Amino acid sequence: MNQKEFWNNKFKNDDFLYGLKANEFLASNINKFEKNMRILCLGEGEGRNAIFFAKEGFDVTAIDSSDVALAKLQKRAQNENLNIKTFCIDLNSWQNSEKYDVILISYLHMHKDYLKELLKKIENSLTIGGYFIGEFFSKEQLNYNSGGPKDIDFLYNVEDFNNYFIDFKKDIKEEIVVLDEGDGHQGLASVIRVIIKKEN
Ligand SMILES: C[S@@+](CC[C@H](N)C(=O)[O-])C[C@H]1O[C@@H](n2cnc3c(N)ncnc32)[C@H](O)[C@@H]1O
Repeated sequence: MNQKEFWNNKFKNDDFLYGLKANEFLASNINKFEKNMRILCLGEGEGRNAIFFAKEGFDVTAIDSSDVALAKLQKRAQNENLNIKTFCIDLNSWQNSEKYDVILISYLHMHKDYLKELLKKIENSLTIGGYFIGEFFSKEQLNYNSGGPKDIDFLYNVEDFNNYFIDFKKDIKEEIVVLDEGDGHQGLASVIRVIIKKEN
């Protein structure tokens, strides 16, 4: 089973695997952004973050490789009268020429060999003054049962982010938090929270 089939299977039910509410950490950074900014959500799944930021008046685009998840996102957006652009793309082969003011990720876990490429593409896709904000499971998450991959090569550490974004302003922390995000993420978790700003 490839990763698209894997995720389509996880999202096939009518409920929302990670709930309807935006990821708390991503949402808590909203005051950093000016209205009408262009936001790109990567690995956005069923769209809880995209819906939240679109409702707040941002111009939101979401990418995911699961067509099943993006169909659920679009159905929810339609019901709420929101216009969100979605693209079904495998981020391992993403080619981007557009710039965004904010790039958001919650729990997109790529194999370590592909993470480097993705982070370089994120660097290049940000406008000056733009933010990359994300929450991810750390390698320590192997000691918890609140969600996430069980393969260490798909989990991250602080250095994975610190080694990139040279000359950017960075606030990258590993923390223990309590997750309450649908059936998918429940309980104590070891996460990495990333706030990165492109200053020039
Ligand atoms: C744990 S889910 C998180 C979904 C969403 N960000 C959230 O927090 O509700 C991981 C998501 O990443 C997507 N994903 C994983 N690998 C991907 C890839 N190579 N390209 C695009 N999407 C990918 C999956 O389809 C899935 O929607």
